[in-house]
Amino acid sequence: MEIKRIIVAIDGPASSGKSTTAKRLAKKLNCIYVDSGAMYRAVALFLLQNKIDFIDKKLLRKALSEINIEIVPSKGQGENKIILNGVDVSKMIREPEITDYSSTIATESLIRQRMVELQRKMAETQSIVMDGRDIGTVVFPQADFKFFLVASIDERARRRWQENQQKGLGTKTPDEIKHELAFRDKRDSTRKIAPLKKAKDAIEIDTTNLSIQQQVDEIFGIIKDEIFL
Ligand code: CDP
Repeated sequence: MEIKRIIVAIDGPASSGKSTTAKRLAKKLNCIYVDSGAMYRAVALFLLQNKIDFIDKKLLRKALSEINIEIVPSKGQGENKIILNGVDVSKMIREPEITDYSSTIATESLIRQRMVELQRKMAETQSIVMDGRDIGTVVFPQADFKFFLVASIDERARRRWQENQQKGLGTKTPDEIKHELAFRDKRDSTRKIAPLKKAKDAIEIDTTNLSIQQQVDEIFGIIKDEIFL
């Protein structure tokens, strides 16, 4: 079966099901999956590790020129690997401190410009499913398909808590996680540059009561008819 090159943008707030859906969808479409949030997380890690104050534009420019982020697609069922200047940081970037700091540094325009440039480059020659906050609005306004996933804050907190348990990350209660998610959503959706918002032409999907399989099937069903020639 012949498939034309496509770009699928999946945006939405934290723990709305973007990454899991995007990952499985990419597999079904036989294309690469890029978690744009992981890139902001890698930048946050680099700045913290090197004690660089991102408010200092001169230091930040230098830092951005030194940051090399590679996304190594998984083989089989595994996760993509995030390589920061040659080091596998896939696990480290999921630490709660990085989660919070990534949303702080994501407000900075120099950082966003650099990430958008890298993200667009990745889609130049291949089909891609990318998830994030500004993929359908800023990175790929011309994407073939745009989805905006939402879910209730309680359900999102439950999912993140469960994920943390499985990954052995932190000891926060669902209630603490709920407050953190709400805080980060607010910061992400009220920032001046590329705020989290639904693109006008994005299809909104509420995943609160959907299983992963159901949400993947729903999105794949929408794409399928148009791409299989
Ligand atoms: O997995 P989770 O939803 O918790 O977060 P993430 O997707 O890994 O993103 C971490 C942070 O990066 C977000 O809170 C955003 O502030 C920022 N981000 C962004 O600004 N733009 C994107 N395209 C992706 C993430």
